[in-house]
Amino acid sequence: MVNITINGKLVQAYEDEMLLTAIRRENIDIPALCHHEAVEPYGACRLCMVEITKDEWDGWKNHVTSCLYPVEEGLIVNTHTPTVIELRKTILDLFLAGSPRSTVIRKLAAEYGVTKTSYEEVPDGTDCILCGLCTRVCDKMGFSAISAVNRGHGKEIAPPLNEPPPDCVGCLSCAYICPTRYIKFTDDGKTRKIWGRKFKLLHCEKTGQPTITEEFARYLVKNRQIPEDYFKINDLSHRKELALKMGEITQWGREE
Ligand code: FES
Repeated sequence: MVNITINGKLVQAYEDEMLLTAIRRENIDIPALCHHEAVEPYGACRLCMVEITKDEWDGWKNHVTSCLYPVEEGLIVNTHTPTVIELRKTILDLFLAGSPRSTVIRKLAAEYGVTKTSYEEVPDGTDCILCGLCTRVCDKMGFSAISAVNRGHGKEIAPPLNEPPPDCVGCLSCAYICPTRYIKFTDDGKTRKIWGRKFKLLHCEKTGQPTITEEFARYLVKNRQIPEDYFKINDLSHRKELALKMGEITQWGREE
């Protein structure tokens, strides 16, 4: 364990964890739109920026993205200094220009007092902030069905050649992890549609409830040692078992 000070409070942190994890354990609310514990940190949004210093640094301070900065003995961390808040405001101002209609961005920006962007709004701006969570989780799941394509203003998340991705299994991990709910899908209980693909859903033989797509079930049976008849029944014990299997796929970071 290492000793660090967060906002004036001395706390202990695990040696190999990132600052953001230690900060969140203290119930300190800092925005971190591109972070999710299921995937490796990426440092795309910069919103988790904090100020760090040490007694022996003679007053020198630095600003770092806490999701990517490992804890160190003696680190003094401040999460809401005037400079940090100004940095976050600038980032949110930029996000607001790129995603002017995103309710998530608008709400977060308003919390920091930014209600209107001071930059020129991107005319065809989307709710996608290019945080990379969707592509990272898709890679982690083993599908790599979508990726970032193009550069500059044209950069976007898309399947290869912008065509329905053959490797997608309709698991919805990308849609669920998207912080701005940009990735859309439909699901009428029989058919699920995402990224231009159409998937048939399996149903529980007992309750008739939809479970997962045929393609996702096939993948789990083949690659995750799940019995073939597993998806016939959708009871709670089944779901717990599946959650454990999925945890094995997406687990990243320190073993508890
Ligand atoms: S959460 Fe750290 S850079 Fe986005």
